Amino acid sequence: MCGIAAYIGEKNAYPIILEALKRLEYRGYDSAGITLYNEGKTTIYKETGAIVQLEKSLGKQSPKGKIGIGHTRWATHGAATAINAHPHHSQDKRLSLVHNGTILNHYILKEDLLANNFSFYGETDTEILVNYLSHQQKKENLNLLETVLRNAGKLEGRSVFVIHDKQDPEKLIACNLGGDLFIGKGKGKQILLCSDKNALAGYADKVLNLLPGMVAVIDKHCHIFDLNTQTELNPEWDKLKLNSEALEKGTYPHFMLKEIFEQETAISQTIKHLTKTSPNRLELVLEPYRRTITRLRKITIIACGTSWHAGLVAKHFFNELADLPVYCEYASEFMPNDVGSGDLVIAISQSGSTADTLQAVQAAKDAGATIISICNVDGSAITNLANVSLLTKAGPEIGVASTKAFTTQLAALLLIASQCGEWRGYLSPNKKKALWQELKNIPIKIKEVLRSNPKIAELAQKYQTANNFLYLGRGTGFPIAMEGALKLKEVSYIHAEGLSAGEMKHGSIALIDEKMPSLFIAPKDEHYDKIMNNLLEIKARHGKIIAITSETDKQIEAEADDIISIPTCPKLLYPFLTVVPLQLFAYHVALLRGTNIDKPRNLAKSVTVE
Ligand code: F6R
Repeated sequence: MCGIAAYIGEKNAYPIILEALKRLEYRGYDSAGITLYNEGKTTIYKETGAIVQLEKSLGKQSPKGKIGIGHTRWATHGAATAINAHPHHSQDKRLSLVHNGTILNHYILKEDLLANNFSFYGETDTEILVNYLSHQQKKENLNLLETVLRNAGKLEGRSVFVIHDKQDPEKLIACNLGGDLFIGKGKGKQILLCSDKNALAGYADKVLNLLPGMVAVIDKHCHIFDLNTQTELNPEWDKLKLNSEALEKGTYPHFMLKEIFEQETAISQTIKHLTKTSPNRLELVLEPYRRTITRLRKITIIACGTSWHAGLVAKHFFNELADLPVYCEYASEFMPNDVGSGDLVIAISQSGSTADTLQAVQAAKDAGATIISICNVDGSAITNLANVSLLTKAGPEIGVASTKAFTTQLAALLLIASQCGEWRGYLSPNKKKALWQELKNIPIKIKEVLRSNPKIAELAQKYQTANNFLYLGRGTGFPIAMEGALKLKEVSYIHAEGLSAGEMKHGSIALIDEKMPSLFIAPKDEHYDKIMNNLLEIKARHGKIIAITSETDKQIEAEADDIISIPTCPKLLYPFLTVVPLQLFAYHVALLRGTNIDKPRNLAKSVTVE
């Protein structure tokens, strides 16, 4: 969580950092700040709220300085106030620092600082961090690089920070203790550092992924050190290939809507990326683990939020295509004892930087499991941790509510499950081929579902005043119900629960009255008849019903208040189609309720704290 942007070069740093922070704003948007160094003076500007508030409060001032560090915050320690906003400065105002992540041993560091006559203006672990480094620097009479190299290893937890020293002002030091930081080199010896590679677009043509355990000294050049060995490294810089259109809303009013509509291409590109050649990428990268896969007795999936829902759908893929039981765990609840050597763990993460997932993956790896990651961000922390990394090709997902990442994760999971099925002798090559062909047809069917957008907007109008919603499904429809409910909660702030339709009668049915709408995930699969029973149970208690179904028949037409039709497809593929109307419904309800759709309150896109 939180976004870092820092600049050093020939130009005025303020507009460049401001623009980069706007691109990083999806990572946190409750306050923002920038430190600029100019002619012997460091000035810190901070404001609560979105970056635009900072921009407004600076008005026409246009602050000057060719070196600067900036930050957009998602509050962890301390409320979202201007005082707690980053950058933070040391007590003597010599050091200025921006930070992403949490320092777990901050209490201990603070006690020591208090005993040494430090006092604190705010409530953040970041202020403790900058004073800790300041104290160590003075105590041992070190320069800033030495201070960081000697002391960063004593900080517990995952974090990234960038720091400036007024007494050695022509450089910045960046340190990665678990998180993302990309260094971009542009023309004329300009260097821009950002938490997300995409935010470098237009400013850099070369990029270096500053990996966990690395420290960078950035002046007109860039020197990288290994925190463990304290020696200088010589890592490769990559060419930065970015399509800046992907970072714009284009003709859409919101990123969320744009990204819902992009699913058609995102899924096609993901399938193409993984299956284009023969042997395809999937087979090639999994080949070294083929023996492990053929002998597996179970798979463990680790993920959070929407990615966890993709994992729950994949349970059905692996069961039905590869005869493999799946344990799908919340990353934050993962117990490393559940896996051991010879086990396979699939970690799913759009961002690749979710702290809970990284923590669980590390624990699974330490326990001896082989890790396959499914991730949308090349070079992210999870791709570096995993034994095998498979990329989804959704393109940058900027709306905080995940949409296209979810369906591309489903595509990757279906491909992996069927490949495993073939290798395990459970799925014939012909059946796999036929299924992959059906999967390739899914984008066209999604296009058809997207045509219901105006109808779904009308339904949103009809139901927007409800204060609670139930989402109900069976089989793969159950995780889709959970995903639909999560989307509604996130963007419209309406309470919604995704439940197993079969479980509903064991308690939650008590909630039903004429004010409670229920959305049924009811494609014509093997659960249809039972779903119809559950629908009637709700109807008998005067609940309102919206049904998503693949073939309308007289019964559902008679019983449901509203129906959203989707095309037919093989039953395992229905999740790709049933989730789309739920994404659109959440979007339109949020639009009518006037919420901040792309940056809903209290949320951030990359959850880099535990
Ligand atoms: C919901 C959403 C979150 C993420 C979760 C995991 O719309 O976006 O629930 O799915 O925070 O994030 P990743 O997939 O980046 O690990």
